[in-house]
Amino acid sequence: MNILITGSNGQLGNEVRVLSALHPKHQYFFTDVVETAGVVVLDITDRSAVSAFVESHCIDLIVNCAAYTNVDKAEEDEATANKINAEALSVLGGQGVRVIHVSTDYVFSGDEHVPCRESDAVAPRTVYGASKLRGEKLLLATCPEAVILRTAWLYSSFGNNFVKTMIRLGREKESLGVVFDQIGTPTYAADLAEAIFTIIESPVWKSGVYHFTNEGVCSWYDFTLAIHELAGITECHVRPILSEEYQYKTPRPHYSVLDKSKFKKTFGVDIPHWMDGLRRCMVLLKG
Ligand SMILES: NC(=O)c1ccc[n+]([C@@H]2O[C@H](COP(=O)([O-])OP(=O)(O)OC[C@H]3O[C@@H](n4cnc5c(N)ncnc54)[C@H](OP(=O)(O)O)[C@@H]3O)[C@@H](O)[C@H]2O)c1
Repeated sequence: MNILITGSNGQLGNEVRVLSALHPKHQYFFTDVVETAGVVVLDITDRSAVSAFVESHCIDLIVNCAAYTNVDKAEEDEATANKINAEALSVLGGQGVRVIHVSTDYVFSGDEHVPCRESDAVAPRTVYGASKLRGEKLLLATCPEAVILRTAWLYSSFGNNFVKTMIRLGREKESLGVVFDQIGTPTYAADLAEAIFTIIESPVWKSGVYHFTNEGVCSWYDFTLAIHELAGITECHVRPILSEEYQYKTPRPHYSVLDKSKFKKTFGVDIPHWMDGLRRCMVLLKG
């Protein structure tokens, strides 16, 4: 297959690039809104540019790793968040090829007490979450064969993320307050990339919405303790604090655990625990 990857400079896009080396039977076209080594420019909001690219490279499948991911900035710039996270999905979905797209736990309210299933009611509380939900709907309307993977708490050795921030703060500060009343599942973007290749290599195409994170649950506080332990940071005292003490600009879900049963059953795979993913990521960060 000729596979177009969008948002290739991001956390997930980079992990897909790394993993593509293990799947050499396909031809890959790595793109992003900014040109970098091995990545050509393609703005997913530019309908004519996307159509021209898909046609001239005989694309069979689009893997959309591009997104507007700054949750706080989205509150102030709703138009751009909608353009990239929502309207662009009708551009990608309208190309007449299959699409694998990534969405978010933020489509849910975050008030749940049990892991969310794909069929559960959605109720985004943020501009980011609402824009991602609109994107899901526009994609399914324009490309009924699409696969949508909802994920959460993504980190990687590429890009900026919570893991890197906690390592930096742990080395700079003697004491650090981290919230313990938000529960979710840290997800190593390399494992999400693996899930994308599981879908690509599946003998039968199985469209639909799926939840995918690593296994297990924790709070941001527990996650930070694990990060510091693996990074060998011993001088920083990590304190559990409540969300209300942290002064978030944008509301954060209190409970955003995703039920992954459908993905595991459909594709017949096990998913690594979040500690296992974190260990593998830390090896790369230390190296
Ligand atoms: N990060 C998380 O914790 C998290 C949680 C749940 C779901 N997700 C979802 O997971 C997916 C991957 O997230 P990620 O963390 O890998 O994102 P990321 O690191 O922010 O990467 C997104 C990439 O898309 C690029 N991009 C932005 N606008 C574009 C456009 N118009 N055309 C082409 N490329 C564009 C970005 O470029 P610039 O940086 O230059 O804008 C960036 O390189 C996204 O769909 C996100 O919504 C993420």
